[in-house]
Amino acid sequence: MPPQSVPAPSESIVQATELPRLIRLEPNLCGAAFALMKLLPARFMLDRAEQRGELVPGTTVLETSSGTFALGLAMVCRLRGYPLVIVGDPAIDPALCRRLRELGTQVEICREPSPRGGFQQARLDRLKELCAEHPRHYVPGQYHNPDNPNAYAVVAEQIAEAVGPVDCLVGPVGSGGSTGGTASFLRLLEPRLRLIGVDTSPSTIFGQADGPRAVRGLGNSLVPPNVRHTAYDEVHWAGAAEVFRATRDLHARHALYMGPTSGAAYLVARWYAQRHPDQQVVALLPDEGHRYQDTVYQDEWLREQGALDAPPADEPRTVHHPADALDGWARLGWGRRSLDDVLLPAAPASLTENS
Ligand SMILES: Cc1ncc(COP(=O)(O)O)c(C=O)c1O
Repeated sequence: MPPQSVPAPSESIVQATELPRLIRLEPNLCGAAFALMKLLPARFMLDRAEQRGELVPGTTVLETSSGTFALGLAMVCRLRGYPLVIVGDPAIDPALCRRLRELGTQVEICREPSPRGGFQQARLDRLKELCAEHPRHYVPGQYHNPDNPNAYAVVAEQIAEAVGPVDCLVGPVGSGGSTGGTASFLRLLEPRLRLIGVDTSPSTIFGQADGPRAVRGLGNSLVPPNVRHTAYDEVHWAGAAEVFRATRDLHARHALYMGPTSGAAYLVARWYAQRHPDQQVVALLPDEGHRYQDTVYQDEWLREQGALDAPPADEPRTVHHPADALDGWARLGWGRRSLDDVLLPAAPASLTENS
């Protein structure tokens, strides 16, 4: 028998690494640093599908993703023996593609964007065709499946136990699962918890027109149903220069080697924590830096992107409409409104200005 203080071996890498490490960065700022955040919703969604009988041995799992959700699913599917087909687009990086294939995943790349909805729509169209080709299939659907946000109950529990009362949660928004889910469970304890979503422009999630984005893993070309707009108190659009600088700062200051969406969350959380020293702030930091060692962690690449042309902003501009947040770092007092309410031409000023 091992001594009681030594934990038993984990059943798998998924179980061993799906929860974040909570790391104090400032007296009132804590980082929830995941190795690969998407492992958690991937595992949880497949668990729930198995419980409902929608996923049985021999079912093919089909999903569209060009990023870390694909990797999370590939790891869980390999360990459980489910065939997996991932529909991606040219933004998928070659190293990730190789890793997916080594895990037995069939990777399909859409080469042409759809005229409406870009690559995101093209991927959804191909997914529909694949569903017809695989009669026994299961589509996790991270953009609309409520089990994506629901997966984060355990993270909220972990944060509440380790940190105590949290005043403000800050995180990057893609599908909306991590910020929306973690906040909804933390609000069972503290309904006033402030939720700050971090996007990057141009992104449709919080009401901008779509366009090419320099920061990956953040933003979207369609508005995912899992983004519950009425959950957000404040929204920031972080500029590429600020995001890349903050990602490097997180490493240089705290030895935390994380990806750019973590940098985006850190940028905003640190700014907020400095302005509110009496509040406890938690930042969701979704993945590690290794995938970005030849990009965000290379000065040459940053120079090529123009990210070093001008000094990054120290603070955001306050805007009153998402369309005014297209350049650099900007923030809008969202005030837990619906997207339609925010996009109304004459939103009441008292709601748009709050800190
Ligand atoms: C690296 C990374 N960070 C952040 C996010 C956004 O998280 P969520 O989808 O929970 O909103 C994603 C989404 O895919 C991601 O891949």
